[in-house]
This record gives sequence, structure tokens and C-alpha cells, in this order.
Amino acid sequence: MDSGSKLRKLIASYGDKEEFLRAAEEIIEEEELKRNNLLARDLRNMLYRPNSSINSFKSLKIPVDNERRLPLLEIKKFKKDWTDLVVTTKIRNSLESIIEENNKREILSVYGLKPKQTLLFFGPPGCGKTLTAQVLSGILGYPMVYIRFDGVISSYLGETAGNLRKIFDFIRDGRWIIFFDEFDVIGKQRDDPFEHGEMKRVVNNFLQMIDNHSSESIIICATNHQHLLDPALWRRFDDIILFDIPNKENRIKLIKRNLRSVRTTSMDYHLLADNMKGMSPADIEMVCLNAIKRNILDNKGTISMDDINKQLSNQKKRITYQKNYIKLKD
Ligand SMILES: Nc1ncnc2c1ncn2[C@@H]1O[C@H](COP(=O)(O)OP(=O)(O)OP(=O)(O)O)[C@@H](O)[C@H]1O
Ligand SMILES: [Mg+2]
Repeated sequence: MDSGSKLRKLIASYGDKEEFLRAAEEIIEEEELKRNNLLARDLRNMLYRPNSSINSFKSLKIPVDNERRLPLLEIKKFKKDWTDLVVTTKIRNSLESIIEENNKREILSVYGLKPKQTLLFFGPPGCGKTLTAQVLSGILGYPMVYIRFDGVISSYLGETAGNLRKIFDFIRDGRWIIFFDEFDVIGKQRDDPFEHGEMKRVVNNFLQMIDNHSSESIIICATNHQHLLDPALWRRFDDIILFDIPNKENRIKLIKRNLRSVRTTSMDYHLLADNMKGMSPADIEMVCLNAIKRNILDNKGTISMDDINKQLSNQKKRITYQKNYIKLKD
């Protein structure tokens, strides 16, 4: 069949997935015969990459835990971008360089170099670790594979290594953002004398899998208990990013961002940001959303400084209560 017929066949197959795949494969094979190997590889990657609509996640076989038959991971797509994220210039620069390196991996590979692929995100709750993974997923177009680390760690000795192997086998092909949440579980159990031996094996196993993985995915481990993690662990990551409580400039951006869709009376953003010192972006979001909700339910039309301050004092009480509760538990 000549090239023209193959193109006709491809276009005629619109709407029929099987027929489209066959026609696309014929075009790729022709390019391979012509020794246009780079083009052929690129086309095949486009066709079979996990976020191509050809590859619906539903047809993927999600690995499960042998013991409880629970899925070990969850796959999600995100359309988020920079506009969703308020971070310092330093963090933004680090993230942009990670994106650039991964987008230009072919150029780096010519020089025998690899892009940054293993990242550790740490910092207090609600400061953007999970959100940033979603933004990276949206910008790079890699679907996010969400894994709760404590779900992988099995109560049965030896199962954990098997679970990790299943995950790494699953991600071997394709490009994903692999997000290991609650990664500190490794550190937490390390101090437990009964867990010590097993945990050490799990950590070593995990590190070996990270070191040896040859996929084109980005692996992100997240924790808000970084003090529990071994310094030896930290060295294994290509980049480590602290997501801290926002500074004043970013608190102002967050307040404005959260109130952007509603009408307000004149606002003193500096004063509001001062009153919100020490709060996480998630707390600031909660204050603004509660003020918006109250406003809708009271049928008021515009939001005032007073409305925000009222919700702010409620949120502060909640934060103090949570802190005291955690102290009591510890
Ligand atoms: N840097 C940020 N910029 C904009 N919004 C943010 C930011 N950080 C957090 N938020 C808001 O707070 C929500 C919760 O944040 P996120 O889940 O990313 O926190 P986290 O750091 O992963 O916390 P945890 O340690 O509890 O898992 C986000 O979905 C977003 O709405
Ligand atoms: Mg999180």
C-alpha cells in the first residue's frame, strides 16, 4: 500500500479505535522500513503513551495487594497549571528546570545525561506538596499515579517488597508522575524495635528500585515529617523541595486568588495578610471559602473585611484546637 492509501485509511478510521491503531501501526512500520527510526519511535510513543486517549486507564490492570486485594495505586489526570500554584520564585525556578529537563530528555541523553526524575517534597500540611505534583502532571501531560506508602507496606513479612515490585513493574512503560504520599512511614517505624529489620529491608529495597528504575517517569515522595527520614535517604533524590508556610507577598496573592470570583468592598490586603501570618495556603483558602459561603447564604452580595476577619478568627480557633489535640495525642 502506498503512503497516500495509508493516510486515507487512517483518516477513514476516525471513531474506530481498533481500525485507527492498525492504520497508525502501518504508517509507523513504513517509517521503520525507510529507516526513519527517530520518527517511528516518536510516533509509537505518541500512540501508546499512557495519557493518549487511545490508552484508557480503564483497560490498564492496576496492581493489587495479595493479602487484602486492595489496589496499590490510583491513576488520575489533572489539567492544572501555574495559575493554580502560589510559590516562591526559588520553588518556581526549581520546578521549571525539572519540567525543562524532562521535556528535553532526548537532548540530554545525547550527552549521556538524565533529567531530574526523583524528587522529595517536604514541609507542613496544606502548603502545596500534592498540588504541585498535580500541576507537574498537568503541565507535562503525564498522568498522576497516586500511591499511599502505608498502603503498600503490608503486615505480612515479605509482602511489601512484592508490592513495591508490582508498582515499579507497572510504571516501567510510559511517562507518569508517581506520587508516594506519607513517605515518612518509613522513618516512623524505623524506631520501632519490632519493625526495625523489616523496615530496613523495605527502605533498601525501595532505594534500589528508585536507583534502578529506567522509566521516563518522575517519582515524587512527599512527607511532612522530614525529621523522621534518614539523611542517607535524602541523598538519593535528584532534587529536594521545601514547601513552607507562605511569606507575606504570597499570602496576599493567595487571598486575592481565593476571592477573585466574588465582589468585595475595599480590602486592605496587607492587613489581612498580616493577620494571616503563619497560616498555610490551605488555611487561607478555608477562611476565604467560608466567607464566600456565608455571604451566599446570607444573600449579601459583597464581602467585607469584617466578613473575612470573622472567618479568620474561627479558623485560628480551629488551628489552636488541632495543635493542642496533636500535643495531647503525642
Ligand atoms: N502553594 C499553594 N498555592 C495555591 N494553593 C495551595 C497551595 N498549597 C496549598 N494550596 C491549597 O490547599 C490545598 C491543599 O494543599 P496540598 O494538598 O497540596 O497540601 P500538602 O502540602 O500536600 O499537605 P499534606 O502534607 O497534608 O498532604 C490545595 O488543594 C490548594 O487548594
Ligand atoms: Mg498532600
